[in-house]
Amino acid sequence: MTQPSIVSLSGSSGSGSKTRVLAATAARLVAERFGRTTRVYDISDFQPFLGNAQRAEDLGPDAQTALASLKAAEAVIIAVPVYKGSYPGLFKHLIDLLPVDFFAGKPVLLTATGGGDRHALVIEHQLRPLFSFFSAQTLGTGVYASERDYLDGRLVNEAVLARLDQAAGELAPFLGRPQLNAAAVGH
Ligand SMILES: Cc1cc2nc3c(=O)[nH]c(=O)nc-3n(C[C@H](O)[C@H](O)[C@H](O)COP(=O)(O)O)c2cc1C
Repeated sequence: MTQPSIVSLSGSSGSGSKTRVLAATAARLVAERFGRTTRVYDISDFQPFLGNAQRAEDLGPDAQTALASLKAAEAVIIAVPVYKGSYPGLFKHLIDLLPVDFFAGKPVLLTATGGGDRHALVIEHQLRPLFSFFSAQTLGTGVYASERDYLDGRLVNEAVLARLDQAAGELAPFLGRPQLNAAAVGH
């Protein structure tokens, strides 16, 4: 099976998840710009064994597929909801199961969404150190969206979309020249 190039991981789950919308929007922008395929995973893809897993091997077959896609991706997009000023514990538990070289050298776009703007620095104070631990190449521009930036299940704030576009541009050294009229394959 051909692996998708751009893989998003949402640290949330459930229908109507704003975090998943952010993850998918970022993936679509990157895929369109560079002519790549995308896939979006969220926490539900790692269930039902995630809570009790002590090793990645304890997760089920769907989770193994998701992990293989993340590992093989040319670039990864991380999107988390803010919980008490940080990322959710279940997201951290998933990341805790990964080997320390899992994201080594991988370009990673960091994004987060919260109820308001107060915790926008979750990207700099929580996510960036976590992915630096894994020696990931986190992009300089992180993207934060708050609840009011969404309408009818879509991310609509132009400033946030422009910032996503700026972050996508920072993938050029890793993904090469942007493609003209590239047809992106989304999921
Ligand atoms: C347990 C919990 C804790 C939260 N803590 C914060 C917080 O500290 N700061 C904040 O801005 N939003 C907080 N929120 C709001 C969520 O970050 C926000 O609703 C986010 O968009 C949820 O993403 P989702 O739609 O993918 O679940 C919290 C929500 C929950 C459920």
